[in-house]
Amino acid sequence: MTDPAGLWHRLADSCVLLDGFHALKHAVRFGAEVTVAVTTDREATLALADELAPDVRRALDALLTEVPEPVYASLVPRPHPTAVAALAVRPSRAAHLERLARTERTAPVVVLDQPRNLGNAGAVIRLAAGFGATGVVTTGTLDPWHPTVVRAGAGLHFATAVERVTVGELPAGPLFALDPEGDDIRGTKLPDDAVLAFGSERSGLSADLRARADHLLSLPMRPQVSSYNLATSVAMTLYHWSLDGGV
Ligand SMILES: C[S@@+](CC[C@H](N)C(=O)[O-])C[C@H]1O[C@@H](n2cnc3c(N)ncnc32)[C@H](O)[C@@H]1O
Repeated sequence: MTDPAGLWHRLADSCVLLDGFHALKHAVRFGAEVTVAVTTDREATLALADELAPDVRRALDALLTEVPEPVYASLVPRPHPTAVAALAVRPSRAAHLERLARTERTAPVVVLDQPRNLGNAGAVIRLAAGFGATGVVTTGTLDPWHPTVVRAGAGLHFATAVERVTVGELPAGPLFALDPEGDDIRGTKLPDDAVLAFGSERSGLSADLRARADHLLSLPMRPQVSSYNLATSVAMTLYHWSLDGGV
């Protein structure tokens, strides 16, 4: 039998880390190509699958190899309470860009303009997956496939198209940028082909993004509150879109 730790070390740099049972469950459910998966207790992990994810139980049974706890701990930066970890092939950037470029889309693309916080980016990817958004693209230096983002996204990167692009490479479509100074979103119907842009946690929308925007929209907020958290702003905006269809 292949040595799972050896295989792990050979693949770790080129693959996406799926940290914990839920990340592995979602990745398998949404078609990820999992190359190696380990657990410290196969029986307990499969019992969890029986309880929470019977649809992927058979796939997990075929993928999971039991390893001693010290081996598991040596493979991951920080042990997860479920003691499950896996590596998956990162989906093709070209295929994602091709999907994002299609303009006859049935759900918006979310743009995070120069986000800083890895947890926020993961939370947004989880939201986008939940609402069936076409994709999440980021501008700036943050890698949206960073292990901390994948952990915060609960493995749902595989349920949508996640890529980093420049402002010049943003997908086509009417660009609605969210900003506390914009027009009240409640007066606007967001179309399915919308590109919904959100600014960075610290400084809001960049000048380049503002220059590209077709509309500037605000979320209802009482005076004296400066702004909402980035991920909650995305949640409210996708919810607003979904009221006219969606999901
Ligand atoms: C934490 S806020 C950024 C705050 C930043 N200091 C600023 O000047 O905009 C992150 C992003 O969430 C969105 N956002 C937060 N509150 C909003 C509101 N009331 N209306 C519209 N967008 C909002 C915007 O896209 C904003 O750029």
